[in-house]
Amino acid sequence: MKVAVIGCGYVGLVTGAGLASIGHHVVGVESDPQRLAAISVGTPPFHEPGLPALLESGLRDGAFEATADLDRIVEADVVFVAVQTPPGENGSIDLSFVREAARRAAETLATQPRRRVLAIRSTVLPGTTDALRTLFDDRTAVAANPEFLQEGTAVQDFLRSDRIVVGVHEAWARELLAELYAPLGAPFVASTPATAELAKYASNALLATLISFSNEFASISESFPDVDVEEVLGAVHLDRRLSPRVDGAVVRPGILAFLKAGCGYGGSCLPKDLSALIASRQAAGEEHPLLEAVRTVNDSQAGRVVGLLERSLGNLAGRPIGVLGLAFKAGTDDVRTSPGLRAVEELLTRGAEVFAYDPLVRLEAVLPWREQGLTLVDGVQELMSKVQGCLIATGDPAFAAVADVAALHGTLLLDGRRLLAADELGSRHLAVGRAVPHGPGDDDAGTPVPS
Ligand SMILES: NC(=O)c1ccc[n+]([C@@H]2O[C@H](COP(=O)([O-])OP(=O)(O)OC[C@H]3O[C@@H](n4cnc5c(N)ncnc54)[C@H](O)[C@@H]3O)[C@@H](O)[C@H]2O)c1
Repeated sequence: MKVAVIGCGYVGLVTGAGLASIGHHVVGVESDPQRLAAISVGTPPFHEPGLPALLESGLRDGAFEATADLDRIVEADVVFVAVQTPPGENGSIDLSFVREAARRAAETLATQPRRRVLAIRSTVLPGTTDALRTLFDDRTAVAANPEFLQEGTAVQDFLRSDRIVVGVHEAWARELLAELYAPLGAPFVASTPATAELAKYASNALLATLISFSNEFASISESFPDVDVEEVLGAVHLDRRLSPRVDGAVVRPGILAFLKAGCGYGGSCLPKDLSALIASRQAAGEEHPLLEAVRTVNDSQAGRVVGLLERSLGNLAGRPIGVLGLAFKAGTDDVRTSPGLRAVEELLTRGAEVFAYDPLVRLEAVLPWREQGLTLVDGVQELMSKVQGCLIATGDPAFAAVADVAALHGTLLLDGRRLLAADELGSRHLAVGRAVPHGPGDDDAGTPVPS
């Protein structure tokens, strides 16, 4: 089938290269010249495991082409819109990129009218896809087809999709999209456009809720001297409705990774999507206290985590403090709404001298924080040699030996992701969801917590 994808970012490029790898011919349209130049020579403009190989084979076989020329979409049976939907004012969704891409697509497709599907891959609020239908003639069906991939595992998430969700009114368009995705062998969920759109928000809101629920229990656990949230949630996980027994073995579903305390959720989707949904409902005069509480807990988490260091070390002003992990999670270079960077901001506000290391994040991606005083270093060793206390903000594999390195330098660790084994953590180091051993450290002694 002939496919076009407008917008070759995380979602568009994975969708395009992925569809090319299962037998379709894909034209990717990208308006950013730097991104386009990189994609055209087989180099994705962001870090995503497996994507360079997928892109390179698509380009080599002629199954995938990248262009700035929007006119090329007239060749396609299915045109995807995968452009950004960033936060606008007060967290509301900025739909200007989607509207502009759809408007220009409608103009272009009108030059050669025939039956086609225009599928909105971007995350958009319920009602958006139906509103866009007015731009197109009635030969073009407009569908909602949200993407559920996670950065860091995006290629596998696409090629082994849990489900393909399609909302479209025309039966022929539904069948065309079912045929397009058939080689993936994923369950095909057909619905109205608004249902498909809301399913994406419900999915992200559930993940955000589990994370804030876990962090609320981390906060409660920290008020007892002998409670560790890892043990509390570990006991919850073993409920067989969460960890079923299959042939006598306990199955640990991936969802349990979200029922875990940490530095809070971040990234380009969860915070933005939750805020967009809340803002749209508020605009409609509706309150949704559960979703608002999920966001409130998350907004305060970085400050709470940094507060643990402060309670142990005392006043942080002038103290050298490290942060390991500036991307919003391990396995990506994406720093959008990163909990590690939120922690950097909290530390800078408290006057700390802040050093950080992340193996994937580029210098230019964190320029605004560097301008505020953040110093990047080249590795875990160098970081530990400079700081008195250090927050582990992501689980990057490069941080595997951090406990040994911290021991060498006498650095106090704060495990903000609950990655360290109990013997590495011991009673010496700090962890989210565990009480600070020696209470408020307001004497400013500057010494790490003794073993
Ligand atoms: N990143 C994720 O993990 C993820 C997962 C699921 C859904 N989503 C959703 O998918 C959408 C895209 O997200 P992303 O992370 O891929 O964004 P992105 O910013 O990485 O990519 C968007 C791309 O579209 C290009 N673009 C914008 N307008 C264009 C136009 N008119 N013509 C051609 N190119 C244009 C931009 O230059 C950019 O390269 C968003 O709505 C997001 O919420 C993202």
